[in-house]
Amino acid sequence: MKFRVVAVMVSAVWLAGAVAQTGAQQKTVWDGVYTEEQAKRGAEAYEKDCASCHQADLAGDGFAPGLAGPEFAAAWEGLSVGDLLERIRISMPPSDPNSVTTAAKADIIAHILKLNQFPAGKTELPSELDAAKQIQYKASKP
Ligand code: HEC
Repeated sequence: MKFRVVAVMVSAVWLAGAVAQTGAQQKTVWDGVYTEEQAKRGAEAYEKDCASCHQADLAGDGFAPGLAGPEFAAAWEGLSVGDLLERIRISMPPSDPNSVTTAAKADIIAHILKLNQFPAGKTELPSELDAAKQIQYKASKP
């Protein structure tokens, strides 16, 4: 009898954890996760630090991959904006990833989201990884 009570309690805790986890990932790039102003700042930073390889329209140059369109969407589908931020933080621009601040990189992602047709909203995209990881990349509207 006692054992059953414990078993029920353990599964209740597990369930609460599972619910909390799905709750944390519920936000997607469709929920207005950046602002117009942030995307504008990001466009300038992108132009300066990224466009020489990825091109002004994000199409890529054959060597550097495109940052918009179906291939980019397929690469990031189901991952998070935090994953994208982390990828850029540690590896871009390739010559010196530390030359661009993480805050500027969050702005650049706002610009990338805008050119990928995701809607702007009222809050800026966070440059803190944990917060950015709560936003899921979904190519089509859920
Ligand atoms: C000197 C050229 C160059 C510059 C400048 C550059 N990149 Fe890249 N980028 C590349 C290449 C080449 C790759 C693919 C190989 C790799 O991952 O290293 C890439 C890959 C990427 C990817 C992964 C794409 C995918 O489909 O997974 C992202 C995101 C990215 N770059 C963003 C940026 C951002 C943002 C900047 C500016 C801060 C930037 N890059 C600057 C050359 C460049």
